[in-house]
Amino acid sequence: MVDVILGLQWGDEGKGKIVDYFAPQYDVIARFQGGPNAGHTLYVGDRKVVLHQIPSGVFHEKTVNLIGSGVVLDPVTLRRECAKVAEFGIDVRKNLFISERTHLILPTHRALDKASEQSKGNDKIGSTLKGIGPAYMDKTGRNGLRVGDLLDKSFTTQYIKLRLKHQKMLDSFNFNEDISEWEEEFFDAVEFLKQLNIVPGEYFINERIRKGQRILAEGAQGSMLDVDFGTFPFVTSSNTISAGVCTGLGVAPQTIRDVIGVTKAYCTRVGGGPFPTELLDETGEELRKLGNEFGATTGRPRRCGWIDLVALRFACMVNGVTQLVMTKTDVLDPFTDIYACEKYSVGGKDLDYIPFQMTRMDIQPIYTKIKGWNSSIENSKDFTSLPGALHSYIQYIDGAVGAKIKYISNGPGRDQIISVP
Ligand code: GDP
Ligand code: IMO
Ligand code: MG
Repeated sequence: MVDVILGLQWGDEGKGKIVDYFAPQYDVIARFQGGPNAGHTLYVGDRKVVLHQIPSGVFHEKTVNLIGSGVVLDPVTLRRECAKVAEFGIDVRKNLFISERTHLILPTHRALDKASEQSKGNDKIGSTLKGIGPAYMDKTGRNGLRVGDLLDKSFTTQYIKLRLKHQKMLDSFNFNEDISEWEEEFFDAVEFLKQLNIVPGEYFINERIRKGQRILAEGAQGSMLDVDFGTFPFVTSSNTISAGVCTGLGVAPQTIRDVIGVTKAYCTRVGGGPFPTELLDETGEELRKLGNEFGATTGRPRRCGWIDLVALRFACMVNGVTQLVMTKTDVLDPFTDIYACEKYSVGGKDLDYIPFQMTRMDIQPIYTKIKGWNSSIENSKDFTSLPGALHSYIQYIDGAVGAKIKYISNGPGRDQIISVP
């Protein structure tokens, strides 16, 4: 069976840490979408690691990791990441597998991402500039190159053909930065990638399912960044929701068992686009400082606000969430009062659902005030020792979204996680 861990907000919910925590219970950890736009932070001992494309199970000896067909892969970032995990004694030739159907991010995809963002001016998405949008465009436009193509002698010819197409597009953007260094790096990294385990990902995973192995699918980004159900056009270019697991790995819907949704105890977003509960005041600043809310991939300050239950209910619905994990609970420790957005108000009307076009609306959050626990929980080890006000907050969220919080995370460390009975 396949279980899924994915983000329910706008990304950076702490998926990396949670996948790393659950990894020992699984045989395979598989990424099914996204690419180096992701930044998943985990701690090995007291050393911090940020993974972008390698699944977060890589530090567990007994788990095998798969980069699935739905991912877009940048060989340059991958090589860098492999070097990083090698510092921990991990040999990716033993525990990392890459689907031959995975699409490649080319240097020109990165250039196109940059050119496209520049051309949008104030309406820019705030993309990570990793080439994600252009690479997925080439996939759906049926032009892209895939990992399996690297093994064919026609690869260079195919590359040149596509590069010419991209050059015309770059010319139309008046983009004339020299990317020859990126290309040199790319072809070096391609040689490295060719030495790794390139496999038919769909057979790889289905054979393991048939043998009764346990698979964990690791989401990237968050549900509100899903290309179909997120705050379009301020989204990423893949299906981040649980449905993406089937198309991204080639597994049948009935193989999916638990969908574990990760949410922060509050909310953040990086990049442009609607964020109804955003706090542009000193409380937002305090959340950013306490939560150290700076992007793991781009270093940009994250926008911060209170938890958005309208968005959370929506995310639970489209994903079929079976259990919740609430992270960064400790960040709310110093607050005497905390707030949760129950509904939106638009033009004097209350909304309890996510409207079609959030970007052109003036959405005001309607908050419920909740008593904070106002004490430190970072050293707590079990549920009973947590403050009563936090018990109430957990109960309140359970009721408001209709899914149960099964774990709370009370710090970035591997052991800072508490099971909720
Ligand atoms: P991801 O993209 O969902 O994997 O999340 P990121 O790694 O981008 O961002 C989450 C950040 O919060 C990282 O710096 C984590 O180390 C940190 N983190 C995760 N869980 C907790 C928690 O419970 N408390 C605190 N204070 N930090 C956490
Ligand atoms: P993880 O997996 C937070 C955001 C970008 C931008 C939009 C589109 O770490 O949660 P893209 O580069 O995908 O074209 O950017 O999506 N974004 C993320 N925000 N966490 C991420 O990944 C993100 N990946 C993309 O900031 O607004
Ligand atoms: Mg992240």
